[in-house]
Amino acid sequence: MYVLMISPGYPPEIPYFTRALAWAGARVLGVSDQPESALPPEARHNLAAYLRVPSLQDEDAVVEAVKHWAAPVRVDKVECLWEPGMLLAARLREELGVEGMTVEETLPFRDKDVMKQVLSAAGVRTPRHARVTSAEECRDAAQSIGFPVIIKPIDGAGSADTYRVEDAAQLEATLPKLSHLTEANLEEFIEGEEFTFDTVCVNGEIAYYSITKYRPHPLIARTNEWVSPQIVMLRHVDAEEFAGGREMGRQVLRALNFQTGFTHMEWFRKPDGEVVFGEIACRPPGARSVDVMNYASDTDLFAGWAEAVVKGQFTQKVERRYNAAIIFKRALGRGRIHRVEGLEHLLTRYGEHIVLVDLVPPGSERRNWRQTLLSDGYFIVRHPDLARALEIADAVGTDLQLYAG
Ligand SMILES: Nc1ncnc2c1ncn2[C@@H]1O[C@H](COP(=O)(O)OP(=O)(O)OP(=O)(O)O)[C@@H](O)[C@H]1O
Ligand SMILES: [Mg+2]
Repeated sequence: MYVLMISPGYPPEIPYFTRALAWAGARVLGVSDQPESALPPEARHNLAAYLRVPSLQDEDAVVEAVKHWAAPVRVDKVECLWEPGMLLAARLREELGVEGMTVEETLPFRDKDVMKQVLSAAGVRTPRHARVTSAEECRDAAQSIGFPVIIKPIDGAGSADTYRVEDAAQLEATLPKLSHLTEANLEEFIEGEEFTFDTVCVNGEIAYYSITKYRPHPLIARTNEWVSPQIVMLRHVDAEEFAGGREMGRQVLRALNFQTGFTHMEWFRKPDGEVVFGEIACRPPGARSVDVMNYASDTDLFAGWAEAVVKGQFTQKVERRYNAAIIFKRALGRGRIHRVEGLEHLLTRYGEHIVLVDLVPPGSERRNWRQTLLSDGYFIVRHPDLARALEIADAVGTDLQLYAG
């Protein structure tokens, strides 16, 4: 089987999926704009062939180049796990006559307004919303939706250019910050806890799912540097308190006719218990979340996804033994990291529950915490008991400090 993989080496966890495809028996044809020598080894060593294109953004040119390049073989699947490449992958499927999601089926996963239109038509509770293309439309939409509102790009990621707006005066102060966008989504602000519902599906059936809780909300984590954001993969996903989220997840996947692969949905639970849809992507969650899933259940979802794509089945054993949390750390100060404090104390106190430590090494430049949630490094911890898992995650947040400057 030939699987054409768009962006097989980026973002950082994608090479593990590329490798898993090859291990599942596929001949993987990689297409991206990175030089072949820059591909991480897990991707480079597992590709049957690689086509470097000048830019993945130039869809027409990529389609032409790929059609010519892949002509000698019959491509069976086109896969892409990188958000900006989803529509390109769909177009390539259509052009090459490959089964899988079409452009029309992919659009509701990429355009946050179309997404909510399709889902509310199917009876899913979505935030009240409007597509806006001018300051005037923003004012009108905010008036009819009612403050507080959220303004965000139609196809945003990583909470970039996303603002909570309390009132008309704040709206006026926010509008200039959005002037570089040609259109945006304006939404009712949903007050409540924020969770994910992530799946691997095979032929329209959910083969694996997980529920994670964001601590705190991604928007708060992205606007406050001092926060050590946590993503907590919950052990007891079948608990009654998540019934609404699970049911919404199933309803959303049915409404969007999703068939095979990873999905990543975000949802809210209001204090009165009402669940509200957030957004959905047809790819795995980023920021090492798949590793967190694997640690929570002693499983291998890189392999599970690849098996679903290549063989149309999912045979990974999933044993939900732990709550697993990833905690991202941000250094104090600018420039190079020069000191780490608290690591020994944490390892002594919680060592057996800390399964991974990956910090930017002393001497290296800090990462841009606004651009990558990975920030200056992260811990993954796990514990069968949720309260203990959270206690350990919080200890990593408060007791570990990196210093730069
Ligand atoms: N209607 C809303 N009500 C309350 N909070 C919201 C709403 N829309 C977005 N947010 C907040 O902003 C964050 C980012 O919004 P959203 O998830 O739509 O964009 P994104 O940039 O694709 O996110 P990411 O890539 O980080 O998942 C959400 O995780 C949530 O914390
Ligand atoms: Mg989001």
